[in-house]
Amino acid sequence: MFPSEKEFTGDFSHVAVKRLCLKRLEARHAEAMHAIERKCFSLPWSEAQCRAAFEQRAFAAFGLFDRQGLIGYVSLYHTPDEVEILNIAVVPPRRRQGHARRLLRLVLRLARRMGVQGVALEVRTGNAPAIALYEGCGFRRAGVRRRYYVDTGEDALIYTWSPS
Ligand SMILES: CC(C)(COP(=O)(O)OP(=O)(O)OC[C@H]1O[C@@H](n2cnc3c(N)ncnc32)[C@H](O)[C@@H]1OP(=O)(O)O)[C@@H](O)C(=O)NCCC(=O)NCCS
Repeated sequence: MFPSEKEFTGDFSHVAVKRLCLKRLEARHAEAMHAIERKCFSLPWSEAQCRAAFEQRAFAAFGLFDRQGLIGYVSLYHTPDEVEILNIAVVPPRRRQGHARRLLRLVLRLARRMGVQGVALEVRTGNAPAIALYEGCGFRRAGVRRRYYVDTGEDALIYTWSPS
């Protein structure tokens, strides 16, 4: 199980200083999540897919909000052994301000606390910003899924992180 909101917000006291607020997302945030998906991904999750994800106990998502609303989020799925990062995105005007790194570090802290063996994700070979983000946070390339993405036929790189 993912830790409760009370347990993880302590890690984010510095975010409050930046007038941002971190929250665990719920089904009522599906519309805002979908709006970010549309801005950030070529194959966005629909609002219905976002809403349905919250019905799964193994799913969780954490979002950063400013006064206008949700500016970025990370969504996760966990098995007994592993946390998988499904999506991480920040709206274009708020990029390069360290928000994705904050969200990713939160995931790594959660993973340590949950005692899983590691964190895994897939990324398009051409997604240089995301690859730089993951490598900068200690992820290592673990494999390739050939022609994984149906829209472009791009390969997916598999990245993993293990607590040490
Ligand atoms: C990838 C993404 C989440 C990064 O969000 P962000 O908030 O701008 O990232 P951060 O500001 O936290 O950057 C952290 C590090 O990532 C790397 N990075 C981020 N954007 C980068 C870019 N455009 N070019 C090169 N490196 C980049 C850098 O190493 C950066 O550290 P630095 O700013 O100290 O150099 C954002 O570009 C995005 O939403 N992209 C579209 C969705 C997506 O592709 N998600 C990943 C799916 S696998």
